[in-house]
Amino acid sequence: MRRQQDDEQKIGRQVRGQEIRLGIELAGLRGVGLGLRSELIPALRSRIPDAIDFLEVAPENWIGLGGALGKELQRFREQRPIVAHGLSLSLGGLAPLDEVFLGRVKHFLDQYRAPLYSEHLSYCSDDGQLYDLLPIPFTEEAVHYVAARIRRTQDILERRIAVENASYYVAAPIAELSETDFIRAVLEEADCLLHLDVNNIYVNSVNFDFDPSEFLHALPGERIAYIHTAGHYREADDLLIDTHGAAVIEPVWALLEEAYRRFGVFPTLLERDFNIPPLEQLLPEVERIAQLQQCLEKSSHAAHA
Ligand SMILES: [Fe+2]
Repeated sequence: MRRQQDDEQKIGRQVRGQEIRLGIELAGLRGVGLGLRSELIPALRSRIPDAIDFLEVAPENWIGLGGALGKELQRFREQRPIVAHGLSLSLGGLAPLDEVFLGRVKHFLDQYRAPLYSEHLSYCSDDGQLYDLLPIPFTEEAVHYVAARIRRTQDILERRIAVENASYYVAAPIAELSETDFIRAVLEEADCLLHLDVNNIYVNSVNFDFDPSEFLHALPGERIAYIHTAGHYREADDLLIDTHGAAVIEPVWALLEEAYRRFGVFPTLLERDFNIPPLEQLLPEVERIAQLQQCLEKSSHAAHA
């Protein structure tokens, strides 16, 4: 009986995973993306390289700009899908959700027909800095609290969102659950998608001394909609800082490949937010993601033929 229930649950998850994938594909999101950083705009304005299938922006940086910049973003949207990755929603925070801001995000997502909006499964400190994302206590109470905030967000936005496994530098204040059980419980209760960041797993695995593969395999893969990969800064052998300011290192490439093998190929962004080199220097990493995707899609088709 128990075995039958487990099988039914597994099949249910697989069906939902298929629906998610289908939804994202219908929204035109596939392949490899790059963040639309201001430093890269002149090069991308003249031509978006074929290797770049989509662009990602932080709505906070574009909402309400209008005018020439709004038109510029619209021109990019005519050429590629634009994913919205939020920075400041603070899903785990104590302050009430900023529903006025969420109304603006909805308008932005509609205006640019964004196929996906994602946010961090963490909370910002008072000054909302990117590197001050803090872990949520991994407790049942926090599961209900965060899931309710995600549900409210999804109601206002009238779409499902994806939440990203975060990197952090202080351990969760209370941990009744493992982080992966916490993530799974939040996603199930909120019925939202997983935005998987493989570099965040790697950075946390070094800083908190755990096995990144084990963590990856324990995640609810059937809910993955989107992946980030990035470089980081090595402050010390046991302290990595998630700067997105360097090339992706080999152990993170290996973790990305492992994620594709385990869960399938998903739209993947090369995150580069600091030390941004000329576009042509980022393209080899974009192309490496594309090659990995093509290689694994081919082998999965062959396996199913
Ligand atoms: Fe990320």
